[in-house]
Amino acid sequence: MNGAAGQTVEARVGPLSGPLSSAWRCGLIGSEIMSQRVLITAGAAGIGREFARAFTANGAKVFVCDVDDKALAAIAKEIPGLIARRCDMASRAEIERMVPEAVAALGGLDVLINNAGIAGLTLPIADYPPDDWDKVVAVNLTGMFDVSRLAIPHLKKSKAGCIINMSSIAGRYGFANRSPYAATKWGVIGLTKTLAMELGEWGIRANAIAPGAVDGDRIVRVFQGRAQISGRSMDDVKADALAAASIKSMIDPKDIAQLAVFLASDAAKSISGQVIPIDNDRQKA
Ligand SMILES: NC(=O)c1ccc[n+]([C@@H]2O[C@H](COP(=O)([O-])OP(=O)(O)OC[C@H]3O[C@@H](n4cnc5c(N)ncnc54)[C@H](O)[C@@H]3O)[C@@H](O)[C@H]2O)c1
Repeated sequence: MNGAAGQTVEARVGPLSGPLSSAWRCGLIGSEIMSQRVLITAGAAGIGREFARAFTANGAKVFVCDVDDKALAAIAKEIPGLIARRCDMASRAEIERMVPEAVAALGGLDVLINNAGIAGLTLPIADYPPDDWDKVVAVNLTGMFDVSRLAIPHLKKSKAGCIINMSSIAGRYGFANRSPYAATKWGVIGLTKTLAMELGEWGIRANAIAPGAVDGDRIVRVFQGRAQISGRSMDDVKADALAAASIKSMIDPKDIAQLAVFLASDAAKSISGQVIPIDNDRQKA
């Protein structure tokens, strides 16, 4: 891997053994910029786009995939050098094409951000259409499994492999009327802790981020679903969500991206198998 000055790290700091190999972990040495190769699923909009912006701003080489062609074109235009490709995370065949393409385009893989996750419908379990349940499980959990299993052999070749999985406040509490979402976000935590145990031997770390209500279009749709099923106003639903947290505000998606940059950095070299909430101390989903 080459650092900011275009030199190999060995040329700059000597052989990669002992403490220096740990200093190189995840591409950060002191204040030097990153040179990580990063794959972000569902990275064309929302929180994924903030991940792409933050990692490229830190010097990383980034590949994003998404189902939204317009958003892919927009992010490719916005961030020079970023590679943006279509991939539906509900399709195993598309994932099996996308991961090798990403690794080839990036020249390897250091950081995998499993960000894709759909909200699903807002309905009680007895009324939840099984096909919609399957869709949420496919994108939120099975897609994450597929991307991870295909990425692992490449992460093992990295000097500092790192996996960041998007869970949610819904992965820490029950979530009435959002059963597949809550079940998959709890599942993400089980997958993350297992990845951490299986991959620690290769120096690969795996952590989950669990945000509360994030500012953006999606939370408006989630609140609309809640308002509809409860017969309450949007203002009431939003006030309810804010009342459930110690700090009465929505989460800034840029803060989630900075958390991910930290988790992928050398400063987080001893953090693995953890679930990091970023939720204003919310007490229920
Ligand atoms: N927004 C929140 O309040 C919130 C809170 C907690 C956790 N999260 C989690 O954070 C992650 C990102 O959420 P977000 O709010 O940015 O989502 P979002 O709904 O804004 O969507 C982000 C991107 O996902 C893409 N996408 C949707 N279905 C896809 C599929 N099948 N294959 C590939 N891409 C697909 C969309 O096109 C979009 O570009 C998700 O895992 C979500 O569950 C979000």
